[in-house]
Amino acid sequence: MNQAYLNGRVAVVTGASRGIGKALAAAAASLGINLAIAARGEGPLKETAEEIAEKYKVAVLPVVCDVTKLEDLENLVDKTKEKFGRIDILINNAGVSSQYPFQNQPLEDLEKLAHTNYLGYVRLIRLVINDMIENKSGAIINMVSGSTLNDPLPRNFIVYSSLKVGLRAFSKALFWELRDHGIKVTSILPGVTDTELTGKLKDITADTSRLMTTEAIENALKFALSVPANVCPLEISVINQQTPWTKPVIPFKQQHPDK
Ligand SMILES: NC(=O)c1ccc[n+]([C@@H]2O[C@H](COP(=O)([O-])OP(=O)(O)OC[C@H]3O[C@@H](n4cnc5c(N)ncnc54)[C@H](OP(=O)(O)O)[C@@H]3O)[C@@H](O)[C@H]2O)c1
Repeated sequence: MNQAYLNGRVAVVTGASRGIGKALAAAAASLGINLAIAARGEGPLKETAEEIAEKYKVAVLPVVCDVTKLEDLENLVDKTKEKFGRIDILINNAGVSSQYPFQNQPLEDLEKLAHTNYLGYVRLIRLVINDMIENKSGAIINMVSGSTLNDPLPRNFIVYSSLKVGLRAFSKALFWELRDHGIKVTSILPGVTDTELTGKLKDITADTSRLMTTEAIENALKFALSVPANVCPLEISVINQQTPWTKPVIPFKQQHPDK
């Protein structure tokens, strides 16, 4: 898709009120793409919409939406189509994280992670995909995680990371399933990025010099959207040069680490 194609297209961006999603919404707007942006908190979402619309002179529709709720996802799609008539690009980004030894992880946390970080993505794709098939074009970008590159997955993040592994597998399979319809599906795998999500993590973010800004992820999105029409970047990993994962991934202690 070249710049002339992207100008005036319509993207839905979830989790766009702050962090990576906000940065990606702004990056898309900088290419002339109109936006529907979604998050739960109305105040920051509206502020973000005004800020991006003012700066990039595109139309930005804020839609309050909890991606764990099917009716909210349906409303997001309906409101976007009401305003813009179509959805060309879906940037699935809303996500939550938590850090627990599995045996201490609250049951409600498991449900929240699964509904936000996996089912929310798959459901929203299901709601937009038939229009994309009919249009014979579309781009789906899924925000996965660099943690999925580690085997075993990072300790204390195994539910978060295994859901991202599932999302990554789903994304790749979806591309093969839909490629004859002209639809691109790209996973972006960011390293540890300086956002509210990582702000409270123990050990991982203590050394802030190791954290990434959103810049490389914005560039990854622009790359994914601007490759030639007959090419699909399936996965783009943008990982910290000194990744903070190394330490928790490989525990050197012989005894159980919690003893
Ligand atoms: N930061 C990292 O190091 C990192 C690394 C790899 C992957 N990622 C992934 O990147 C994505 C964005 O992370 P981030 O670091 O930018 O997080 P963040 O700063 O905490 O922002 C999360 C965004 O998602 C929204 N959100 C959360 N739960 C939602 C829900 N149920 N429904 C709708 N919106 C919801 C939040 O707004 P509301 O709270 O108002 O809803 C906010 O706009 C996530 O999928 C995350 O897993 C992050």
